[in-house]
Amino acid sequence: MGALVKSDLRGFGLGVLATVLIIPGTAYGIILSGSISPRADEPIQPLERWAAENSLRAYLKSNTPKTVNPLKPISADLKAGATLYVHNCAFCHGYANSSTSKTAHGLYLRPPVFANDDLSEDEDGQIYWYIDHGVKLTSMPSYNKTLKEKEIWQLVLFVKNMKKLPPDVESYWTTAAAHPVIEQ
Ligand code: HEC
Repeated sequence: MGALVKSDLRGFGLGVLATVLIIPGTAYGIILSGSISPRADEPIQPLERWAAENSLRAYLKSNTPKTVNPLKPISADLKAGATLYVHNCAFCHGYANSSTSKTAHGLYLRPPVFANDDLSEDEDGQIYWYIDHGVKLTSMPSYNKTLKEKEIWQLVLFVKNMKKLPPDVESYWTTAAAHPVIEQ
C-alpha cells in the first residue's frame, strides 16, 4: 500500500472518529448548557411537534391492535363509561360543553377536547391503546395498572358514542360539567 493511500485512510478514519465524537459531544454540551427551555407556558417548537407526532403515528401504524370493542352500546356500559370518564378524563379532555380545567389549560401539550375532536370514526383498538399505555412525555397517563380491561372498553364505548347517548346517560353527561371534579 502506498504512503499516500495509507495517510488518506488515516485521514478518513480520523474524520469519522471526529464526526462520531462531535455530534454526541455537541448534543451533550447543548443539553448541559441550560439553553433548552423546560417551561410549559411556551408554545411547542415546530421540530418538537413534528418529531413527536410522526414517531407516534409510525409506532401506532405497526403496533395498534385491530381488536374490536367486545361491548355493545347498551345503557349500562355507556353509563359506566361516562362515569369513569367524568371522574378520570373530563378535566383534561373536556365535558359536553367543551370546558376542561385550569390544570388542562396549563399543560404544555393541551389535551384534545373530545366534544370538538370527534373520535367516533377512530379504531376501537387505537383508543384502547391510548388509555392502556398512555403517551410518554405528555400528560396522557397509562391506566393499565388502575383500570380493568372491561372498564377501558367502557371508556372506549363512551368516547365513541358521546354524541349519540340514550336519554338517561345523556342527561348525566350534559349536567356533569356543573359539578366538576377539578376546578374549571
Ligand atoms: C392530565 C391530562 C390527561 C388525562 C387525565 C387524560 N388524558 Fe388522554 N390525552 C392527554 C394528552 C395531552 C393527549 C395527547 C397525546 C398526544 O397526542 O401525544 C391525550 C390523548 C388521548 C387520546 C388520543 C386522542 C386522539 O386524538 O387520538 C385518547 C383516546 C385519550 N387521551 C383518552 C383518555 C381517557 C379515556 C382518559 C381517562 C381515562 C384520559 N385520556 C385521561 C391528556 C390526558
